[in-house]
Amino acid sequence: MDILGIETSCDETAAAVVRDGRDVLANVVYTQIPLHQPYGGVVPEIASRAHIEKIGAVVGEAMRRHRVAVGEEASIDAVAVTYGPGLSPALLVGLNAAKGLAKGLGVPLIPINHIEAHLHTPFLFDSIAADGSRQQSTAVGDRASTGLCPAEAMPALGLAISGGHTCLVDQPEYGSYRIIGQTLDDAAGEAFDKAAKLLGLGYPGGPKIDRIAREYVEDCRQQSKAVDFIAFPKGRPREGVTALAGLPADLCVSFSGLKTALLRYVQREGGPERLAAEGGIPRIVASYQEAIVQSVVDRARTALRRGSYRSFIVGGGVSLNSRLRAALNELAAAERVRLLMALPKYCGDNGAMIAGLAFFRRNRVEDAMSLDVNPCLEVGE
Ligand code: KG4
Ligand code: ZN
Repeated sequence: MDILGIETSCDETAAAVVRDGRDVLANVVYTQIPLHQPYGGVVPEIASRAHIEKIGAVVGEAMRRHRVAVGEEASIDAVAVTYGPGLSPALLVGLNAAKGLAKGLGVPLIPINHIEAHLHTPFLFDSIAADGSRQQSTAVGDRASTGLCPAEAMPALGLAISGGHTCLVDQPEYGSYRIIGQTLDDAAGEAFDKAAKLLGLGYPGGPKIDRIAREYVEDCRQQSKAVDFIAFPKGRPREGVTALAGLPADLCVSFSGLKTALLRYVQREGGPERLAAEGGIPRIVASYQEAIVQSVVDRARTALRRGSYRSFIVGGGVSLNSRLRAALNELAAAERVRLLMALPKYCGDNGAMIAGLAFFRRNRVEDAMSLDVNPCLEVGE
């Protein structure tokens, strides 16, 4: 079954065709990052206008590549689309396009939750050669980060970690989701982006901080110096805080204290320009990143010990972070759980995760054609 997936929840206009939920036959992502860069973050009006301008070409290119991969008999069996959470004017563009396509092609429409889709990414692989043709010999799982099919990976603990969300999700079986912990304020990616903005490093901050921190740690190693991290707060909610919706505080993170600590530190040291001139930025960003990584690892460890999981599934843009990937690998080895992480190209927002999950979530919503966007859609809703 070949499903076309459309994703426009934030600043990527994306479309993909995925066979039977896992085999990515076409994947096209147009990123709007350069449009938002001058503003230091995503501007919803700019995002929605750019989605309107690009959606036709992006979907058209995904369908063209699908035909190259499987031949002229290529057909689309269903259209899947993100209907939340995300920016309302951005989601609307994708949902309306998907409704039109589903109606035009005479196929079902499958609405998908963006965060649940991030947790599907480790199950995606692709069998497309460099010239766009399909490699016949590629078996399921051949080039995937995992050979497991979703049902075999259950029960699982999920960690969705991106610019818009940071949550721990209990998945007793595939397609069943319950949030057991989350951030009480900023998402991890937001914490990276805001720090980078404060330090004048540009947008998006995550990849820049990742690189600078990696080079700093490498330099220390080469000079046989111990890495001297600044002791930033480790993202624990304040003592006595009962976290959102009755979630246990020890499975939740809060990055507001960390951000304030960074701001105070930078002010005390004379501001970002002076710090940059004195070469102080690398140590700060490495320490800040370490605080985020340790806070996430700490909550994930607690969640893994509290449940009985066969696997630990991680998805979302921040899972590209090299330090986080290393720390999660160590955690999974110590806790004897199988870690499933997406191939790097499926970590950020993409249509493949939408089309992929849709195969497993086909008959969930009755009247999909009359569904509206839901910017605050909850996991498991
Ligand atoms: O999943 P994603 O593409 O979009 C959302 O659903 O939010 O995630 C984007 C976020 C941004 O905040 C970006 O700074 C962060 O992922 N990010 C990273 C890295 N690459 C992207 N954060 C830390 N380290 C990275 N290497
Ligand atoms: Zn996302």
